[in-house]
Amino acid sequence: MPTRRSVLEILTAGGALGAVGCASPAGPDPAAAWRNPGAGERDPRRWALAHAILAPNPHNRQPWLVDLPGTDEIMFYADTTRLLPATDPPNRQITMGCGAFLELLDLAARQRGLRADMTIWPEGEPQPVLDGRPVARVRLVADPSVKADPLFSQILKRHTNRAEYDLKAPPSAEDLTRVTRAAAAPLIAGSVADATGLARLVDIGARGFAREMTTPAAAMESAKLTRIGRAEIAQHRDGISLQGPFLEGMAAIGLLSREAMADPDSFATKSAIDMWAKSIRATPAFVWLKGPDNSRATQIASGRAYARMHLTATALGLSMQPWSMTLQEFPEMAALYRETQDALGASPEAPLQMLVRIGRAKAAEAAPRRGLDQHIRT
Ligand SMILES: Cc1cc2nc3c(=O)[nH]c(=O)nc-3n(C[C@H](O)[C@H](O)[C@H](O)COP(=O)(O)O)c2cc1C
Repeated sequence: MPTRRSVLEILTAGGALGAVGCASPAGPDPAAAWRNPGAGERDPRRWALAHAILAPNPHNRQPWLVDLPGTDEIMFYADTTRLLPATDPPNRQITMGCGAFLELLDLAARQRGLRADMTIWPEGEPQPVLDGRPVARVRLVADPSVKADPLFSQILKRHTNRAEYDLKAPPSAEDLTRVTRAAAAPLIAGSVADATGLARLVDIGARGFAREMTTPAAAMESAKLTRIGRAEIAQHRDGISLQGPFLEGMAAIGLLSREAMADPDSFATKSAIDMWAKSIRATPAFVWLKGPDNSRATQIASGRAYARMHLTATALGLSMQPWSMTLQEFPEMAALYRETQDALGASPEAPLQMLVRIGRAKAAEAAPRRGLDQHIRT
């Protein structure tokens, strides 16, 4: 029987979370969308959308649906079958994932000399949860004055990196400023790299992960979205991927299963809490993002800004991982939610939209994508 410590070492050393290898004998290639996206597409909308689906998004739900009316229009909807009701009851994080999608769409359009005219929430902001109304109406218009954005070239290199970061090579103050400047007004972004501030966020963050894992509905939601081993990853191409010989061996002998992950007292849950506490301790800096309010428009703008921050970090050779547990709005997290807002001068009326680890680490691999056709409504 492996000890918790050995599980921990292997998980963190192997980078077994979240990434997928290039080839899978078990079904469709989960990383295919990352290779030459849009190749052969004649419709520039499809070419741009093939890039947009590479956006960061919570739990890799890929909650994006589009209609393609006429020749130049995209009607973009949140896929309300792909929400996270337990951990994201107001759909704030899902909305941010929609914002990130729009940012990558815009970068890709610019790359083709197209201006993406976007009307956000053309039929009004859905509250208190998302509904069937569109997130955005987008028109792609040829415009010689449109400039390509250098961040486009980072789209295929950007991956969420859950590894331990190098505490001996922290990001420079200048790099942190470049990353936070990627968020445009009225959003505000900042960084924390001083010992006291870091210790406070690491402590809150570790407690947040443990709280999530020991809250049955939240743990069950993540467990259901966990894909264990190549066959499940290839079948679903979304969610949280766990793979590698060790993990698949653990799964084969029953130590790692969705049931075990949803059980607060299991070996799998305790190992995960240890492992994530270890990785958050290996954090040389955090960046954060907030807006003037918590409207849906601000959430979309925040998703767009986060995508730009992560692409900027990628260009600087830095890795990022959102640490969202204590920004989640389910009752069992309420005290830690308040503690996090207080720590960074935010409030529930104008809350933090993102809290993210940043540092240097071995490159992470691509997370699965379901492929463009899964997002186009017939
Ligand atoms: C709003 C939001 C919240 C997220 N929260 C977390 C988080 O708490 N922990 C984490 O490891 N990744 C988090 N992520 C990253 C996603 O899991 C990641 O984007 C997704 O799995 C796809 O992987 P990729 O970014 O490598 O393409 C978050 C992303 C977004 C947009």
